[in-house]
Amino acid sequence: MPRSAVAGIAAPSGGGTPDSFGPVPEHSVIPPDIDLNRVPRHVACVMDGNGRWASQRGLPRTAGHAAGEEALLDTVNGALAIGVRWLTMFAFSTENWRRPADEVRYLMGFNESLLARRRDELHDKGVRIRFAGRRDWRVPRRVLRRMDESSELTAGNRRMTLTMAFNYGGRAEIVDAVRQLIRDGVPADRVDERALRSRLYHPDVPDPDLVVRTSGEFRISNFLLWELAYSELVFTDVLWPDFRRQDLFDAVAEYQRRERRYGGVRG
Ligand code: FPP
Repeated sequence: MPRSAVAGIAAPSGGGTPDSFGPVPEHSVIPPDIDLNRVPRHVACVMDGNGRWASQRGLPRTAGHAAGEEALLDTVNGALAIGVRWLTMFAFSTENWRRPADEVRYLMGFNESLLARRRDELHDKGVRIRFAGRRDWRVPRRVLRRMDESSELTAGNRRMTLTMAFNYGGRAEIVDAVRQLIRDGVPADRVDERALRSRLYHPDVPDPDLVVRTSGEFRISNFLLWELAYSELVFTDVLWPDFRRQDLFDAVAEYQRRERRYGGVRG
């Protein structure tokens, strides 16, 4: 019986408190319902529900974000264990600046310190860390510096690419690609999908095969709008701080039960 529920079935919550900030072990038993020959190449996650997790416990919303760190690391380790090559996590959207100033300030510091705490561990595991999003004036310089350090340190790794979508918006990414097309002087009749795609933030990343959103919300919330055109979507009621690799495995098993047709017919 899967611990997480897909497509809206309530799931029990468990654990979730970050009782340790030590390295999260990568080893795990791979469930027999996952076909390791058909693991999605690219999984993208909307890490949602931290605030609700915290308020259910009478804690400030920021405590929910802190508890989300263990979920993030366990998900990375689960993805490594089954051979996911590309993992993209929605960490802060272009709309999240609308949150209360204290929470935004916390999230900036939290993301910076998370990178400082975890980048060596991720580097040792062969993870390349990258970022997708706007590097605008709102992102504090020290956060940008930490992002650059993490990308530079891990640039040569190829086992998995972990992209943190930070100050990221799907519409902003498309707007930025269009601006680049214009800067490059591409004439209108030469603008096609390939020309636009090649100007996205990371054109080398394959489109996500599977997108997982936690916390029972059935929305995309401006995540990877271009790239999600044919992704399989899995929604789970689990709140992000409770999410663990088993929930990822359940989502992958659900993905493997789907039939992808890309507008064609059943083959
Ligand atoms: C989209 O929902 C969700 C996100 C942009 C994820 C935000 C994640 C965090 C703030 C915490 C990150 C945690 C870690 C461990 C790095 P939304 O709330 O922006 O959109 P909605 O209003 O449509 O639900």
